[in-house]
Amino acid sequence: MASVTSLSDSVQQQLASALTATRPEAAGADPLLRRSDRADYQANGILALAKKAKANPRELAAEVVAHITTGDLFKEVEVSGPGFLNITVGDRAITENLAARYADDTGRLGVPQAQHPGTTVIDYAQPNVAKEMHVGHLRSAVIGDALRGMLDFTGEKTIGRHHIGDWGTQFGMLIQYLFEHPGELAPAEEVDGEQAMSNLNRVYKASRALFDSDEEFKERARRRVVALQSGDKETLELWQQFVDESKVYFYSVFEKLDMEIRDEEIVGESAYNDGMPETARLLEEMGVAVRSEGALVVFFDEIRGKDDQPVPLIVQKADGGFGYAASDLTAIRNRVSDLHATTLLYVVDVRQSLHFKMVFETARRAGWLNDDVTAHNMGYGTVLGADGKPFKTREGETVRLEDLLDEAVQRAAEVVREKARDLTEEEIQERAAQVGIGAVKYADLSTSPNRDYKFDLDQMVSLNGDTSVYLQYAYARIRSILRKAGEVRPAAHPELDLHEAERALGLHLDAFGDTVFDAAAEYAPHKLTAYLYQLASLYTSFYDKCPVLKADTPQQVENRLFLCDLTARTLHRGMALLGIRTPERL
Ligand code: ARG
Repeated sequence: MASVTSLSDSVQQQLASALTATRPEAAGADPLLRRSDRADYQANGILALAKKAKANPRELAAEVVAHITTGDLFKEVEVSGPGFLNITVGDRAITENLAARYADDTGRLGVPQAQHPGTTVIDYAQPNVAKEMHVGHLRSAVIGDALRGMLDFTGEKTIGRHHIGDWGTQFGMLIQYLFEHPGELAPAEEVDGEQAMSNLNRVYKASRALFDSDEEFKERARRRVVALQSGDKETLELWQQFVDESKVYFYSVFEKLDMEIRDEEIVGESAYNDGMPETARLLEEMGVAVRSEGALVVFFDEIRGKDDQPVPLIVQKADGGFGYAASDLTAIRNRVSDLHATTLLYVVDVRQSLHFKMVFETARRAGWLNDDVTAHNMGYGTVLGADGKPFKTREGETVRLEDLLDEAVQRAAEVVREKARDLTEEEIQERAAQVGIGAVKYADLSTSPNRDYKFDLDQMVSLNGDTSVYLQYAYARIRSILRKAGEVRPAAHPELDLHEAERALGLHLDAFGDTVFDAAAEYAPHKLTAYLYQLASLYTSFYDKCPVLKADTPQQVENRLFLCDLTARTLHRGMALLGIRTPERL
């Protein structure tokens, strides 16, 4: 694979060797390079070094500069301020670097993979069986999918786990109802997502009504829970019908979300059922969990609730039943021992962060998590309505995820229709889906995950500002220029001097790989959206200042087309990592 060393890495390396040549004891010191407004890069690392060596920082900086050879890479290096280095790289170095990225035909833009990738098991998109998906399920799916795309790009092996809520006492009521009213759920292969959910809703409401009004039914439902937990065959078959019907529905929503979900990665709470007694036994034997009033629990000094009473994690209830914590602890054992995870990532609402804190600490005490295997809860904030309160319908109900997606697509259709008058209705609908779903994803991803954000469709599908539509238009405009160029093909010409706007665009294009690696390492998709937004902005100012098809010489036309094309490819790749489409025409 044709991997390309980024300009910033090259500069960094050469600076590091100049530092070592100046002061051998400085070997390994970080030059602290960053992009700068004054020059291309600024290095601030000499200050700390001078302090350590009790040297004058400006003099030390001048010595370092003397050890740098200017040439293709360094056009200019100057000492500034208290001892910073301002670095300008050569135009040729920029164009050659970009040309090497352009030549990489793997779609990776020359970005190398991590040398020692790990295995991340990522727990995301976890709806509950027999229940409708609502706005609360949006972020886990969208953030999880984007993190996965970015991690995959770095070379990390990722395994998805959709920890769906498919187990628990609530199934007693549902199964008992279905047992008494056979045929209320149609066979899964005969329904579409909408029918599946409406069947499930009907059964849920009817069984709930019986459960609340009929004491005898309630008792039969309770016995059904016991039958389910003891693995009674007939009970399990009925339970399976609920799971299958729900999956038809889940798949239809994920399809609307333009997200691929693999069946083998849907591994819900029930999958850990058989392992839970063993989890309890191990924790008790190790003394991590203790018996308290008949239940098996884990205590934490630092976690306290009302009246300063310690809040324990309940592994097993006094009646012998297992719950949410036991399934998560058993899932950890499975993910570590069987899937060989080095990182466990949970994309789950921040409101569950206490649960995960306790589960992770328990697993650490048990030795299932340690320095080599770590766990993180990417706890995300709430989606708010225009009023700044958790997003509800006008009637005060939770917003169905499908309704929200449908509305976004509808709103996008208006925008698309307005802009592109020569599109057929079918083309409009296709673009509308890509624009509308992209807008919802982008708005979600461009907010730091731990913050809440307002669900504002008008803003999301706006053509101006930090939106996916803006990026999609930038992409489509570039594609149209490339089509207009006809026979003239993009080609790099490193001998040409670059305009300021070309340099700025070029340096930013070079930073794509570093940005993805940082964003992936920090689980921060918003760093990638910010990068892409800036890329589109830099492209816009390049396009304003530098004529492309009407440039002065044929070489310049080709070189600018090449910059356009590399920008388009970078936008496309970056958006794809986030799960957002880039239509060819808009
Ligand atoms: N199904 C759960 C819910 O809707 C989320 C599951 C999160 N994952 C986990 N491993 N506990 O709240």
